[in-house]
Order: sequence, then C-alpha cells, then structure tokens
Amino acid sequence: MSIPENLQRGNFGSRLGFILAAAGSAIGLGNIWRFPYTAGQNGGGAFVLVYLACVILIGIPVMLGELSIGRATQRNPVGAFRVLAPGSAWPLVGALGVITGFGILAFYSVVAGWTVGYLYKAFMGQFGGDVTAEQSAAIFTEMIASPSAALLLTAIFLLLTVLVVRRGVSGGIEAAARVLMPVFFVLLLVLTLRAISLPGAMEGVRFMIDFDFSKITGAVAMSALGQALFSLSLGMGAMITFGSYLPRREGLAFSGVSVVFSDTLIALLAGFMIFPALFATGGDPTAGPGLVFVTMPTIFHSLPAGQLFGVAFYALLGIAALTSTISLLEVVVAYLVDQRNWNRNMACWVVGGLCFVLAVPSALGNGASNFWSGGEGSWLAMDFLSLQNIIWGNYSLSIGAILICLFVGWRWRVRASLEEIQTNGEPVPMFGLYGPLIRFICPLAVAAVLVFIIVTRQYF
Ligand code: TRP
Repeated sequence: MSIPENLQRGNFGSRLGFILAAAGSAIGLGNIWRFPYTAGQNGGGAFVLVYLACVILIGIPVMLGELSIGRATQRNPVGAFRVLAPGSAWPLVGALGVITGFGILAFYSVVAGWTVGYLYKAFMGQFGGDVTAEQSAAIFTEMIASPSAALLLTAIFLLLTVLVVRRGVSGGIEAAARVLMPVFFVLLLVLTLRAISLPGAMEGVRFMIDFDFSKITGAVAMSALGQALFSLSLGMGAMITFGSYLPRREGLAFSGVSVVFSDTLIALLAGFMIFPALFATGGDPTAGPGLVFVTMPTIFHSLPAGQLFGVAFYALLGIAALTSTISLLEVVVAYLVDQRNWNRNMACWVVGGLCFVLAVPSALGNGASNFWSGGEGSWLAMDFLSLQNIIWGNYSLSIGAILICLFVGWRWRVRASLEEIQTNGEPVPMFGLYGPLIRFICPLAVAAVLVFIIVTRQYF
C-alpha cells in the first residue's frame, strides 16, 4: 500500500527506540499508582492472578492486533479503520478511542500533578525525618484538598505534555523515553529491595502472592481486566498510533511482547515495593487512590540519603507519567492532524486546554469541593476522579478491546494481521494461537466479564 504525501509521518529511529517509547506509554501511573491500590482493594493475590491471566491471554493478542493495524495503515485510529474497512461503521471504533484518550488524559493529569506536588515536597525535605503513616496521610489529604494546589499541578502537567507533543514523535517522545525508562527501572529495584528487607515486610509479600480463588468475584475480574488494558495502553488505539510510526522493516511480535513483558514486570515490582512497605508501617491496603502517595514517604528516611531517594522517586514517577500522557495526547492530536488537517501546534494547545476544563472536577473532587467529592448522601456515588477512572479506564477500554478483536478476527482477517506481524518471516512462537485468541477467546472473555457485572450489578 503506498502512502499519500500528506500522510508521510515521523518514524521511530530504531527498534529499541520504539520499544522504549511504547513501553514508556505503557509504563506509568497505571503501574505504580493504579495497580497497587486496585490490587489492595480487590484482595491482593487473587486480583494479581486474574490480572496476569488477562495480560497473557488478552493483553498480548490485543497488543499485536493494534500494532499490526497501525503499521499496515500508517494512520491514526480513525483513519486506520477507514482504510481497512471503507464505507463501514468501523471508524467509529477509532472515534471511541480518541474520545477515551481524552477522557483518560483528563483524570490522569490530575494524579500526575500530585507527583509534581510530591516532588516539590520531597525536594523541600518534608519527608526527610521519621514520617509516620498518620503524618503521611495528613500531608496527602491536605495537598489534594487544596483547590489551588490541585488545579495548578494539573495545569503544569498538561502544559508539559503539550510542550513535548508539539515537537512530534522522534524529537521529543523517543529521546526522552530512551534515557529515562532504564533509570526508573533501577531506582524501582533499589526501593523494592529496601522495602522487602524492612521488619514485618513479609506479610506484604504474602499479600501479593496469596492466591485465594474464593476471593475472585465479578468486580475483581472487571478490575483486573480493566487494569491489564489500562496498564498496557490498550483498547483505545494508542498502540495503533504507535504502530503507525513504525517503519516496515521488522516484525512486530518481539517488540509487542517486550512491551507487555516490561510493563508487567514494573507493575509487579511496584506491588512488591509498596505492600511490604505498607505492612511494615501498619497501613491499610484498601486505602484507595492515595496508597502510593501515603506509603512511600514512610520508608525514604530508612535509606541512606533518603531525601535523595524521595526526590528521585517522584521525579522519575512524574517522567513515567509524562511518557504516558504524551501518548494519550498524541492519539487525539494525530487524529486532528491526519483526518481534520489541523496544524499540530494548534491541535496540541486546543486539546490540552479542553482537557484542563474536563480535569477541573476531577481535581476538585478530592476534598476541595463537596459537590464533586461524592460519597454517602451525595448525588455522586464516589468522587469524580474515581468515577472517570472506572468509566474510561475499565468500561470504555474493555468495549474498545472487544471491538478491536472482532475487527481483526472477523473483518480485516487474522491472516492479514499475521502477515503484518511476521514481516520478513520473523518467526513467531505459538503464532497458531493468535487466531483463536483474537477471534473467540478474547472477545468472549471480555464480553463475559461485562455481562456478568451488569447482571450481578457489581458496577463499581
Ligand atoms: N498505560 C499508561 C499507564 O499505565 C496509561 C496510558 C497511556 C493509557 N496511554 C494509554 C491507558 C492509552 C490506556 C490507553 O500509566
């Protein structure tokens, strides 16, 4: 297929550069913030087990499906479906992805803003001394409940995202991810080793690996599935967009599986860092979205040069979040640039600005405004941020994943997708499983989870 002039696009410089950038999209707050608190709320080991099953059985096929759609068409999600299924309703799946990317970015940037706030606190030495679990919780609650802090931090983060995405793919995204992702991994490893060696930490390790099957409910399955898709940046076309920037030289299987593997490794490391630290300091695993922010400051002081570790941790967490927000904004911008002929710079500023507007209720819903904070007796069952997290992160991604599987398996066809994955005959181990997984097992499993929670009314 020849690519029209106006759709010639930036390319990744190398396979490693691509893997690091796609892993940069996948690895983010989903691994360090969302995975541990969701695992904590859903019973620990039982959740982890279902999560791992979802990553392998659903994550890998959907990852390869999305990458192959993107690279075959070299287009944004809407354009990609338009090329492969002209005159059909399939481009609406791409449109759902663009909307979902916008929705995720609007709450994600609030949490990403918290990391900037914590970077400042760590830098100012607020976690230098012996911070108890109660003190740590108070610091967090105070910060997120301050309207000026919440709004300012969100705005700072969206601004950073816009500034990178303006510069296009290989200049900004690839260059940043290349250096910073490996540094982040090493830091995480050090902090995990420290957490595991704390007195009382083994209870936390046990929490992560205690596979109690009786704890698996519909809600646990839904959370694990949503978490797997969210963490791997799947179900909304982010990986279609990434695939579209890949040159035609190499196969996709190695790259796709490397991204899945590294993302999962980082999530598990985060779990083995946070739960041991939490149990060692007597915290509550079901604490919810504040879990990482409250837990980590209680262990920095037990390390030599603790303040330095604190600063490095929040700096790198912020950067990991940035490589993810970049990919979310990139999906929306790529759509406007390719399909609507917008200028990239303008698209970045307009989408960034609108996103801030939608982020305001999420930023204010953590104590600053009763109206958006939800809870007992309120018009909202939960705070606005948690609600957005569930709507876009669990439901919308699951529906998107089903549709992408059905598209690859039944409309575009498995053979065409496999040909793209195995460019140059790259050998793909177990490739015979790809067809049955993407045609039957993945869509049926995701649909079963959705139907089950609707029937049993375990929506949240
Ligand atoms: N995967 C990222 C994380 O774990 C978040 C993210 C970036 C994302 N792009 C996405 C999630 C696209 C879903 C879809 O932090």
